[in-house]
Amino acid sequence: MRTAVCPGSFDPVTNGHLDIIERGAQVFDRLYVTVFPNTGKEPLFTLEERMDMLMGATRDLPNVIVETYDGLLLDYVRERGANVILKGLRAVSDYEYEFRMAMMNRKLDDKVETVFLMSRVEYSYLSSSILKEVARFGGCVKGLVPPEVEVALKRRIRERAKSR
Ligand code: PNS
Repeated sequence: MRTAVCPGSFDPVTNGHLDIIERGAQVFDRLYVTVFPNTGKEPLFTLEERMDMLMGATRDLPNVIVETYDGLLLDYVRERGANVILKGLRAVSDYEYEFRMAMMNRKLDDKVETVFLMSRVEYSYLSSSILKEVARFGGCVKGLVPPEVEVALKRRIRERAKSR
């Protein structure tokens, strides 16, 4: 059984993430999609909200399991009996960050491989951070996130604006 873990902050999940998850689910027998707390950044959605959005968006992928974990990625990978970390690679700007993480993870356990899938061109510029900024200023994010996420994004931004 080939088992991989696709980790991320998913704050929130985008169609770019989903493209990688869907293609990864065809390559691996079982794919854990795991939400980790954002280090450094104040999240827009709670871990549970991010998980719910991911579960909704992947409900038609029977070999995808959505979970959350607060700890070292490598410990989680070993706990789940996986030996691959699956990541998406967008434009060249991702490379340095991903390279550092892949090397550190290899240093921690050289039996775990990091495997990259190249983003589709139409999502190669898309990130949750840019998306949130566009949504915050009323820009259109249709086609970049699942419809439920678009609704949740608008609602959360409205709530945040009111509470300020
Ligand atoms: O979506 P992101 O923010 O690029 O995901 C980053 C993530 C969650 C993959 C990374 O921060 C991570 O692996 N966090 C778990 C803690 C850990 O193991 N950190 C060391 C990574 S070398």
